[in-house]
Amino acid sequence: MESRYGKVVLVTGASSGIGKAIAERLANEGFRVYGTSRKAEGEEVIIEETASGGFFKLINLDVRSNESAQKAAAYVTEKEGSIDILINNAGFGISGPIEETTPEEAISQFDTNFFGMHRMVRSVLPGMRERGKGLIINISSVAGLFALPYQAFYCASKYAVEAFSEALRMEVKDFGIKVSLIEPGDTKTGFTQNRYFCEGSKHSAYKRSQMSVEKMMRDEQNGPGPEIIANVVVRILKRKNPPVRVIAGFSYKLLVFLKRLLPSRLVVFLVSKIY
Ligand SMILES: NC(=O)c1ccc[n+]([C@@H]2O[C@H](COP(=O)([O-])OP(=O)(O)OC[C@H]3O[C@@H](n4cnc5c(N)ncnc54)[C@H](OP(=O)(O)O)[C@@H]3O)[C@@H](O)[C@H]2O)c1
Repeated sequence: MESRYGKVVLVTGASSGIGKAIAERLANEGFRVYGTSRKAEGEEVIIEETASGGFFKLINLDVRSNESAQKAAAYVTEKEGSIDILINNAGFGISGPIEETTPEEAISQFDTNFFGMHRMVRSVLPGMRERGKGLIINISSVAGLFALPYQAFYCASKYAVEAFSEALRMEVKDFGIKVSLIEPGDTKTGFTQNRYFCEGSKHSAYKRSQMSVEKMMRDEQNGPGPEIIANVVVRILKRKNPPVRVIAGFSYKLLVFLKRLLPSRLVVFLVSKIY
């Protein structure tokens, strides 16, 4: 990995799951790592020790706030002089049929998963442009490539992350800034427990929705641990020209490949049979 020592990384949502695994791994690899959590209050800095004796610092961030995003980026820049790598990972999932989801619930999904990422990107880009280098990795999802029933707003927020990241990659290229996407599949993290169920779906008219979401939750908890996504990040950091996207796991790569080959009608039929 090219001169990783001293490189400064900011990972959003590093209190658990994928973000925590990435922060721990990069701290062990010799990066100077700042993670974020809403649980670190105010100016508080929580030192998170890794099993291998490394550590990273957890600072406050709520990606739903412009002020909080600016403050977190300014804090790291003031302490370290720069942010070399931003990993936009903070996110959660909402479930429920489209009809039974209120616009406010749908907006809250986008506020964190999509606009939160936009806020963070805006907070770090001036510094990266000034230095003529930087890397932004956005954690999307296989659900950003495959729409699932009763997860429409989660999938839509991740489809939006996909389009945003491709456009961003083209916009910032001339400033020496690189952008990559990672699409994890089902991963065993706090995501399942932190899922938000739309109020209107509690007594749903859509009889299949509960069964379908329960299957997704089982699949997540039967999935591999978040360390596999940390491995993908490390692989991206080794590349001089990071890829546009990395789909995590061979079976998901195969599914996405098949989706490109098969007629859409057949893909939608097969997904609706599974869920
Ligand atoms: N697990 C999966 O199967 C899976 C699959 C594909 C993609 N993903 C994506 O991976 C990312 C990480 O999810 P995970 O699976 O690791 O779930 P997780 O264990 O629930 O972790 C989510 C992280 O996001 C943070 N977060 C949530 N809302 C936030 C907000 N408003 N502001 C700042 N931070 C916020 C949480 O931090 P605090 O609560 O401490 O603030 C937490 O650290 C998400 O973007 C998710 O969509 C997950």
